[in-house]
Amino acid sequence: MTTPRPLRSAAWFNNPAHSELSVLHLAWFLNYGLTREELQSGKPIIGIAQSGSDLTPCNRHHRELSLRVREGIREMGGIAMEFPMHPIQENGRRPTAALDRNLAYLGLVEILTGYPIDGVVLTTGCDKTAPAALMAAATANIPAIVLSGGPMLNGWHEGQRTGTGTTLFKARELFAKGSIDFPGYIDLVGSTVPSAGHCNVMGTASTMNALAEALGMSLPGCAAIPAPYRERGQMAYETGRRIVDMVREDLKPSDILTRSAFENAIVVNSAIGGSTNAPIHLIAIAKHAGVELDIHDWEKVGLDVPLLLNMQPAGKYLGEEFYRAGGVPAVVAELHRHGLIRTDARTVNGHTLAANCADAPVKDADVIRPFEQPLRENAGFLVMSGNLFDSAIMKTSVISDEFRARYLSKAGDLDAFVGRAIVFDGPEDFEARIEDPSLDIDESCILFMRGVGPIGHPGSSEVVNMRAPSHLLKSGVSALPCIGDGRQSGTSGSPSILNASPEAAAGTGLALLQTGDKVRVDLKARTVNMLVADDVLQARARELEAKGGYPIPASQTPWQEIQRAMVDTLSEGMVLKPATKYQRVAQT
Ligand code: FES
Ligand code: MG
Repeated sequence: MTTPRPLRSAAWFNNPAHSELSVLHLAWFLNYGLTREELQSGKPIIGIAQSGSDLTPCNRHHRELSLRVREGIREMGGIAMEFPMHPIQENGRRPTAALDRNLAYLGLVEILTGYPIDGVVLTTGCDKTAPAALMAAATANIPAIVLSGGPMLNGWHEGQRTGTGTTLFKARELFAKGSIDFPGYIDLVGSTVPSAGHCNVMGTASTMNALAEALGMSLPGCAAIPAPYRERGQMAYETGRRIVDMVREDLKPSDILTRSAFENAIVVNSAIGGSTNAPIHLIAIAKHAGVELDIHDWEKVGLDVPLLLNMQPAGKYLGEEFYRAGGVPAVVAELHRHGLIRTDARTVNGHTLAANCADAPVKDADVIRPFEQPLRENAGFLVMSGNLFDSAIMKTSVISDEFRARYLSKAGDLDAFVGRAIVFDGPEDFEARIEDPSLDIDESCILFMRGVGPIGHPGSSEVVNMRAPSHLLKSGVSALPCIGDGRQSGTSGSPSILNASPEAAAGTGLALLQTGDKVRVDLKARTVNMLVADDVLQARARELEAKGGYPIPASQTPWQEIQRAMVDTLSEGMVLKPATKYQRVAQT
């Protein structure tokens, strides 16, 4: 097959107009044994963006998978050049891994545009690695394909499946209640991480890799293959083969990341019970791709889609069952049969998502439910607003029966409730005071977490899903409603109202809320309002201004300061505002 236009890499290695520069560029790439013939004969140079390292255990096995990627690339006549991405480890990076999504994005954009790379394999896995890579691929706009690393094997403890994160949140309640001791706590959480791979529940990692596939950016069936399975290595090989032809076909992210592709991803997210981090990351990818997508699209496109996938935290099973039941293609096929998949969205293999998946069988109907018998109807996100913030989302697929019975109408319809606000300023404040008897927390309370948005807590931390105080846990109340300007882990089964934008640190209504205020949540009207008189709020605003505004802790590193100065809200994807004007930059 012929390449329709000169390879980008020819400007480095084969540029008659700059023969001296070509010598300079060429010479150093020969020093590990490549030959002039290889570099000057029009073979596509394929970058492998390596996200695995000892610092990113969830992606570490990509170091072995890349060997299979290389074999695929070489077999199709390409040359592989592997390079490291900035590590992003969800649980190991302090203060929060979200701080590094934009940093890894920036680094990858510079690599993809500044080096002789004709196409790239994006190795993804842990939560922020997929969005960082896709954002960069969108900005650079060279042919790009996602190879996800796959989830860990299922966790097991005393005969029960244990899911990463999801079980952690249960374990911390059991520990707070005194039902397990500390060694038992470690034992239970340790059981959830049994092998190489990313988290094995439908947390942010499984979600973002599934959505990469739904967007059309990976080969069909890629996302759900567990990391240690042989099919993962086979997928790595096929991915390496395919990217070489993508370069020859000049099939770029701009051909794939269309509005239809994003709508497909939103629909799939509802059907799989995907993470509340998905809107942030998908909006960020869309902004870098130059596609119109906003927070309201999540409710418009995604709310009335049923939950089909029975996987933790919204359901029962884990990654291995999802794969055996058919993975993303089986979910897409079920949605497509009911007219919910846009049929004009192309994927990396050149065919549309709908065509790729149309015949994919559901192999276990308890894991991937038939459309007519879903786990839940209308399983998307609600987009809320009011005098506390302009927008926040609520994941309806994790609203438990207990929550419905306590706070919503007996019929289970969307409804309203009023609660007494208990306000925490950051996770340290929560830890210090959640057991404080003077707060008199009872089941009529709503817990608020603020100061944890992209500016208040650089990167925005995953702390909105707060546990109830131990006296309530012991009395059988497993959760209180939680609202906040931060995020929560995608592994959490809490129906929090979160990602509130703008955040308290930007001086919105949330900054004026006080413990004891009454707050009305109306799920039908999609509103959250503090029931505080306007003159009282105005007086509080003046008082806050006199103190210099909502307190923002000092940055600890240069990057924290740089990001805070230019980061957008969670509802706008938490992107670096000046970065979004640079689109399709490697084409020119
Ligand atoms: Fe990396 Fe969950 S901590 S995927
Ligand atoms: Mg997380």
